[in-house]
Amino acid sequence: MLYTLIRPFLFLLDAEYAHQLSLRLLKKFPRLLAKDSIDDAVEIMGIQFPNRVGLAAGLDKNADYFVELSALGFGFVEVGTVTPLPQPGNEKPRLFRLKEQQAIINRMGFNNLGVDHLLQQVKSRHFSGVLGINIGKNKQTDNDHAIDDYLTVLEKIYEIADYVTINISSPNTPDLRALQFGEPLKKLLGKLKEKQLDLYGLHDRYVPLVVKIAPDITVDQLATLSNILVETKIDGVIATNTTVSREYVKDSKFAEEAGGLSGAPLTDRSNQVIASLRKQLPEKFPIIGVGGIMNAEDAVEKIRAGADLVQIYTGFIFYGPDLIHDSALAIKNYFAEQKIMAKK
Ligand SMILES: Cc1cc2nc3c(=O)[nH]c(=O)nc-3n(C[C@H](O)[C@H](O)[C@H](O)COP(=O)(O)O)c2cc1C
Repeated sequence: MLYTLIRPFLFLLDAEYAHQLSLRLLKKFPRLLAKDSIDDAVEIMGIQFPNRVGLAAGLDKNADYFVELSALGFGFVEVGTVTPLPQPGNEKPRLFRLKEQQAIINRMGFNNLGVDHLLQQVKSRHFSGVLGINIGKNKQTDNDHAIDDYLTVLEKIYEIADYVTINISSPNTPDLRALQFGEPLKKLLGKLKEKQLDLYGLHDRYVPLVVKIAPDITVDQLATLSNILVETKIDGVIATNTTVSREYVKDSKFAEEAGGLSGAPLTDRSNQVIASLRKQLPEKFPIIGVGGIMNAEDAVEKIRAGADLVQIYTGFIFYGPDLIHDSALAIKNYFAEQKIMAKK
């Protein structure tokens, strides 16, 4: 409700400035928007999630706000993408709000303060929620050496993460998406799995690895990718990242801006990818559905398509914390109805 009042002012500001301002205000007045989370506990990948609605990666890249964000009612929060070294990202402007289309185009380019900053932030806070950490490679690291970047970050954050997301699907780091296919993918995931098992032995704590994929992927590519996820014993998949397609936003003055498109124009495409993954992957393989959840019904639709958990980014910018609560409640009710139907 309060967010509905603030939003018109935020939307008058430059999009990136408005994001930063909102996060700073949230940190300063954490109780203003805080809400009890919907109680709908579920265990997935061996993790107890208080409810099935999470914050998607990219809003809190440096883990500066995750405790306050979590207090808005999220069942889990994913921070990052974090890279080994700090990097400034692309030149501004790099974030565009497509108000009519309920969408965002971004080409942030993994702007972040580096893994050491994130580590320090997480260690300095008391947090009892579920924390995912999304990892990537630095821009100047070429794909032949990408593995080293992912391994470096994984090793550093293993201890503090509840799960780790391998981001190979951002459209804003040149050639990153090539890591989603064939031998490069097999090699990358194989090495990360080895490292995960070493770290499991070392810390006596198993931290699941999930892979985040793009929506701009053919059915055949998805089939190969699914096989590799299973072969390399990856623990879960996040579908999807932003799209490079402009099919549904041709009329926007921002349509020609480079970057990834998120929000309402992504909903159907993301659902198709989730449904396709659900068909190709083993029955219980965890899927986290993300892309264009703009209302509670969209959240349930992701579950119907085959997701076990969902995440929100753009919808949260447009509709604020009520969307978290409404989505979590709608999903809880959906499962309750399913149970009743099954008994009939
Ligand atoms: C401004 C912005 C920055 C993002 N940064 C990241 C990122 O650093 N890492 C990542 O994996 N996804 C990132 N994403 C993608 C989101 O996590 C999500 O996958 C995508 O936006 C689709 O969900 P949505 O339609 O609910 O926004 C970003 C999205 C936006 C809008």
